[in-house]
Amino acid sequence: MIQFLLNQTLVSEQDIDPNLTVLNYLRNHKQRCGSKEGCASGDCGACTVTLGKAVNGEMRYETINSCLTLVSTLQGKQLITVEDLKQGNQLHPVQQAMVDCHASQCGFCTPGFVMSLFTLQKNSRHWDRHQTEEALAGNLCRCTGYRPIVDAARQAGENGADDSFDRQQQQVAQRLTALRSDQLQEIALKGNRCLLPKTVAQLAELYLLHPQARLLAGGTDLSLQITQQYQTLPLLIALEQIEELKQCRLDEQEIVLGAGASLTHCYQLLKTQIPGFAQILQRFASLQVRNQGTLAGNIANASPIGDTPPMLLALNASLILQQGSQQRRLPLEQFFLSYRQTVLQPGEFIRAIVIPKVTASHNFQAWKVSKRLDDDISAVFAAFNLQIEQGVIRDARVAFGGMAAIAKRAAACEQQLCGQPFSSATIEKACRALEQDFQPLSDFRASAGYRLQVAKNLLRRYYHQQCGELTITEVAGYVS
Ligand code: FAD
Ligand code: FES
Ligand code: FES
Repeated sequence: MIQFLLNQTLVSEQDIDPNLTVLNYLRNHKQRCGSKEGCASGDCGACTVTLGKAVNGEMRYETINSCLTLVSTLQGKQLITVEDLKQGNQLHPVQQAMVDCHASQCGFCTPGFVMSLFTLQKNSRHWDRHQTEEALAGNLCRCTGYRPIVDAARQAGENGADDSFDRQQQQVAQRLTALRSDQLQEIALKGNRCLLPKTVAQLAELYLLHPQARLLAGGTDLSLQITQQYQTLPLLIALEQIEELKQCRLDEQEIVLGAGASLTHCYQLLKTQIPGFAQILQRFASLQVRNQGTLAGNIANASPIGDTPPMLLALNASLILQQGSQQRRLPLEQFFLSYRQTVLQPGEFIRAIVIPKVTASHNFQAWKVSKRLDDDISAVFAAFNLQIEQGVIRDARVAFGGMAAIAKRAAACEQQLCGQPFSSATIEKACRALEQDFQPLSDFRASAGYRLQVAKNLLRRYYHQQCGELTITEVAGYVS
């Protein structure tokens, strides 16, 4: 059985299909039709709802795409939807701001925008343009135009008075804390089951017993099999309840990120440690997806166009893998076998990701090239990590996504760089070597020729930037 608060109402669910998304649960089981389905793939934000979690006695609020989130994720949380904001006849200040600023026309996108702005207001009491753009990047509007919506965000942000959610925070946090338990939970319907272990040991035991189960982390990849491919996943093991798996630590030598840590959490940690990595995470999907999705999910998904594997390869990251009580540490470059194939054995899972600390002598930089700046998948992804001492390249780790069936290091290119002067002549030789490393595909994102040209140009850009010949420019308000 799972238990959660639907706004202020305690809900218990046992006989429920774990393949059900929160959006369909709200619309079909709870007759809450305010949250809309625009795409069912995490792209439009019309289904945005807010999840409240109790952390150390206080509430933290995050937006999620309810179309991508499976119902088991609700365990122990407060689910707030657009229906909950109005108090009596009084619109919530965020809703009032949308009205005042004429920020809605057909209204289909509006509940999603309202929930994104509501959550922004919960997390930040001061108007900030960058934060607003980040909060709204996962919400599409086809008719109003974004200027009035940003105006509404400003009005709501400047009116930072407490609302009923703020006043009830402590009490809600206590109620959610009381829902915690160490017991394995389960929901099931008509043979479809989801198990919710609470500890890594429980997870390891269950996965060994049921190696055919699908591990559900954020579900931002996995749930598309349900919503886009109309598959049924008969046995899920949800990782979300395992607090141990979310733990991260920094020490002198390395950064260890728990497999259950969300991308938003990883961003918070990495922004001071490896700013080049964190900067890219801000362009990873949308805030809704980053709040839900994990770094481990991005790796285990083994997509050739996943954003984080090239960066992690360039940073010489390793994975801690666990099967039963056995753990092994594996360099990431040995993890991907071929297109969407990994070395994971039956019952084996990623427990943590280990990134060696980047020292001052490492020059790490990554670029994502996609058709849209926000919420888009890479056509080409490049990550460079060169160690340059007295003008000579002592070590080079160069990795690309979108150039082969897996995210891959550019071995021939690296060979041309190592031991050579850091000069434009060396870079041009290394660019030519990229032709040996990669024979990319043409697809709807980019042609093979474009991909190779972009890969070479990014290496050249890296060189010019390291030489201080390029300044970072602002493009349409974003650092490119
Ligand atoms: P899940 O969907 O839960 O799992 C993905 C796979 O990994 C599943 O097979 C699951 O069983 C397995 N898995 C999960 N955790 C573990 C573990 N600990 N051990 C072993 N196996 C595990 N990706 C990008 O790279 N860049 C983008 O810009 C981007 N944009 C997106 C935009 C949208 C709208 C959507 C829907 C997705 C986008 N993605 C993007 C893909 C996705 O969000 C990421 O790959 C995300 O990191 C997946 O993490 P998750 O926790 O949601 O994984
Ligand atoms: Fe489009 Fe959920 S319906 S993001
Ligand atoms: Fe019509 Fe936004 S108001 S899609």
